[in-house]
Amino acid sequence: MKILAIETSCDETAASILQVEKGRLSVLAHVVSSQVELHAKWGGVVPNLAAREHVRNIVPVIDEALTKGLCTPDDIDAIAVTEGPGLIPALLIGTTAAKTLALVWDKPLIGIHHLEGHIYANLLAPDTELRFPLLALIVSGGHTELVLMQDHFEYQVLGETEDDAAGEAFDKVAKMLGLPYPGGPIVERKARELGITNYELGIKFPRPKMDSDDYNFSFSGLKTAVLYFLQKHQPELENKNFVAAVCHEFQEAVVDVLIGKTERALTEYRPATLVIAGGVSANVRLREQMENMVQRHPSCQFLMPPFMYSLDNASMIGAAAALRFSKMNETEKITLRKNALSLEPNANLPLIENMYWKIPPKIKKKTEKNIGQRAM
Ligand code: KG4
Ligand code: ZN
Repeated sequence: MKILAIETSCDETAASILQVEKGRLSVLAHVVSSQVELHAKWGGVVPNLAAREHVRNIVPVIDEALTKGLCTPDDIDAIAVTEGPGLIPALLIGTTAAKTLALVWDKPLIGIHHLEGHIYANLLAPDTELRFPLLALIVSGGHTELVLMQDHFEYQVLGETEDDAAGEAFDKVAKMLGLPYPGGPIVERKARELGITNYELGIKFPRPKMDSDDYNFSFSGLKTAVLYFLQKHQPELENKNFVAAVCHEFQEAVVDVLIGKTERALTEYRPATLVIAGGVSANVRLREQMENMVQRHPSCQFLMPPFMYSLDNASMIGAAAALRFSKMNETEKITLRKNALSLEPNANLPLIENMYWKIPPKIKKKTEKNIGQRAM
């Protein structure tokens, strides 16, 4: 089967074509149109500007995915779209496009949770098998969560951030340093420059909640510590070695906390698989330190999404959808087709078993008579 997947939850307009053949998942087309340059001017994502860009880009992006995947609408068996969480003005564009195509092409439509997509991005690495129980560290611009899964689509949130998400902290610290949005990649790059100059300042930032005996995170205290430190060292902001040293120590603090909490969960729950997911999972320092830590837990396999699937994209949405389809019976698939119009984006969609396709359709098609009556 072939799936057209669409993602517009934040500032990337994305469409992909995925194929499932003899149980093997492959990406036939992967198109991402990023709005990063537009939002960089404002220092963060402006929801209404994002929506306007999604409106401009959604049709060309879907068209490009179909062309690259050598598909006509007849070749598509199902449509998948990010249902939430995310920015409502942005989600509305993707879900409206998906609903329209599902209706016009008469295809089943499946709504996918954005974080579920990030987790299943791990399936897009070659020869990957998810073994359960599975522990997922989700680190993105909007979320930081440790999630335990006993099986596909069974989520137990062990802990989450009490304030800022990890990616958000990278973005805010970058802004304080006068670095452009998105902060993560540039802070990582600057941190690496420290090795070249070997600039030593003896900076030490806190590792909030690293040793607390829950699975929650907190990054706002770390962000404030960086702010106070920079206020005391204003003139040094011109010094690129100083900036590199701050980026380096900030990144070490975030990575230490993420590794510490993840290891605590590995020790307590002994999962068969550990995955990292979300935009911050592109961070090489986090990847390296996670690999080192997992060596202390040899019964656990460690998976990372390929870099191109770490940041927001539609292939991850298609991967989750492909798996969901494979677990559905015929009645569920029929209901899914009937319910296409009842899919509504949800900015705060919780990460729990989402089975909207089992609920009877909310929207009934108008009959000829109804339409006629209204016209009079
Ligand atoms: O998953 P994602 O693409 O979008 C959301 O769902 O939020 O994650 C974006 C976040 C941004 O905060 C960005 O700064 C961060 O991921 N990020 C990184 C890196 N690349 C992206 N953070 C640290 N290191 C990176 N290399
Ligand atoms: Zn994301």
